[in-house]
Amino acid sequence: MYGLYVPVYFFILCVKIIPKKGESVLPRRISDDMISRICDENDIIDYVSQYVQLKKSGRDYSGLCPFHNEKTPSFHVSQEKQLFHCFGCGASGNLVQFVMRTENLDFVDALKLLADRAGIVIPEDDDDFTDISHEKKKRILEMNRLAARFFYSCLKNPSIGKTGLNYFAQRRITGKTITVYGLGYAPDSRDMLINHLKSNNFKIEEIVEAGLAVQRNGKIHDKFRNRVMFPIIDVRGNVIGFGGRIMHNEKEINGFKIPKYLNSPETPVFDKGKNLFSLNLAKNSKADDLILSEGYMDVISVYQAGIKNIVATLGTAITENQAKLMMRYANEILICYDSDEAGTKAALRAIDIINDSGGRARVIRLKNAKDPDEYINKNGIEKFREAVKKAVPSTEFKISLIKNQYDIKSTDGKILFIDEVVKILAKIKDAVEVDAYITKVADDTGISREAVLSKYREVTSKKSYKRIPQKTEYQKKKERIQRKIPISQGLREAEKRLLGLISQQKKLYKIIKKDIEPENFSTVVYQQLAKDIFDSYENGVNPEPAMLLNKFSGDDLSEASEVFYNLEVYSGDEATVRELLYTIKLEKLNARIDTETDVTLLSQLFSEREKILREKTTWEE
Ligand code: CTP
Ligand code: MN
Repeated sequence: MYGLYVPVYFFILCVKIIPKKGESVLPRRISDDMISRICDENDIIDYVSQYVQLKKSGRDYSGLCPFHNEKTPSFHVSQEKQLFHCFGCGASGNLVQFVMRTENLDFVDALKLLADRAGIVIPEDDDDFTDISHEKKKRILEMNRLAARFFYSCLKNPSIGKTGLNYFAQRRITGKTITVYGLGYAPDSRDMLINHLKSNNFKIEEIVEAGLAVQRNGKIHDKFRNRVMFPIIDVRGNVIGFGGRIMHNEKEINGFKIPKYLNSPETPVFDKGKNLFSLNLAKNSKADDLILSEGYMDVISVYQAGIKNIVATLGTAITENQAKLMMRYANEILICYDSDEAGTKAALRAIDIINDSGGRARVIRLKNAKDPDEYINKNGIEKFREAVKKAVPSTEFKISLIKNQYDIKSTDGKILFIDEVVKILAKIKDAVEVDAYITKVADDTGISREAVLSKYREVTSKKSYKRIPQKTEYQKKKERIQRKIPISQGLREAEKRLLGLISQQKKLYKIIKKDIEPENFSTVVYQQLAKDIFDSYENGVNPEPAMLLNKFSGDDLSEASEVFYNLEVYSGDEATVRELLYTIKLEKLNARIDTETDVTLLSQLFSEREKILREKTTWEE
């Protein structure tokens, strides 16, 4: 039945197209287990002693810091925690990070050096799935290709795919677009695809491994059922996975939550962080830039309207691999995310990831519509083209967001605004660009150009002792939105001590876990640490400070490391933990009270404070 309809398109799809530039852009990965092993078999005191004359001092060893000039030792190394920390310049980290700085190596190469020292062999590059047989990958790709044809044929078959066709029609998708994208329909059946693939000599285990069937309650059935289907095709024309959408907008039916989109799981041929929807089509457009959106439907609508240089991520935040992949085909990336707060945050993150990967980004802002698809359907393609033309450079976008957070008519507001802006400018390499923004900010605030410039110099000179730039996955993902509510020194200190304490003793973690969540910590670094410490205990293992620090670099690394370089961590008990929790709650509330102007909200905050004070007296008794 469906076998009869074999669109020419799929023959074109399956032709291997060689990408324009170099093939392999992706870095290697080393598993956490391997990292652990390498760290276990090297001793930090041993290694650091090659560089620094260390003396035992209390629990730690100390010596003259190799990262800045000093006469009295403020550089400490802890054998127990396998960490180093300089109280003078803030240099901090674990052994791998020490090697990175002293040998000027990246993370992977530093690990390799340590592995060599310990006589450990790191298995070959697992990036291209070299350990999984070529044959297996070929068979999965073949199953995917058959599945794509099958879904397409089902869509085109009136007795099966009518609801799917109606859905696409309702979303104004034309027949031509259906063919170009190879869109399809997964029938409302438990095993039609399974049977189709079996009849093509594929075994059930293979079908499950391809992510096309799933096992639930001991039974195996088709993964995609009663959904419209979006095949995901790589630049070489392979069908590597699928997204499937329900044909309504209900979030649940009969109390069961149903995901709007269901995507193929990661398989030997499908890595969501390394591929982009529609790049196979976008790469053939003549444009110099690529538009990056969030959704399948956004891409399809924009493409159908004639703008072909658009791609989307696959249901996850953009990764550095994806940024690099895009940059093989484009000089500049135009971020076109949803216009809500989540979309704005995601855009900020995307900018950092693109910049960190060496790319340039601008941001397309759409007014009065949720996403590009809705925008085009409401306003037409010409308006969308105008919005694309007006895309703002990433720095301007960041500055405009900060500007909204402060009242730049007030003196305080001006100071805070300029403080934030110079931090952003400090990351820009182009001197002319920096200069232009300094002038603009001075004009906007009425502060002298010299004053803004000196603030900028202050920030850039502080950075200069960080001789070797270091980047981690964490930093790339780091959110850079600044809070409106200031963080007091007391709050920071309390959070730092709390994290230090719970990282040492599970019983202390158990006391606080009901009362505070990782997101409640006030800096991004503390949030990440809290999350990792919590996760680690929940998984039944004690957190290891040295491993936790792998995610950080630069100033963040110092901030994180200070948590563990806190003398009190050894002496704290339950009462300390309660006291800290109390301080945190109170400090936060006080900060809100200080900034709140709404009278009703204020009185609520006051009664909340009363409550916290009462609670304290209860447990103190
Ligand atoms: N997504 C997902 N799983 C979900 C919801 C979304 O994987 N349960 C991914 C899909 O790749 C989707 C993208 O996130 O395309 C954006 O989601 P969303 O903005 O919710 O949907 P739209 O793209 O606007 O989809 P539609 O217009 O079809 O509602
Ligand atoms: Mn949408």
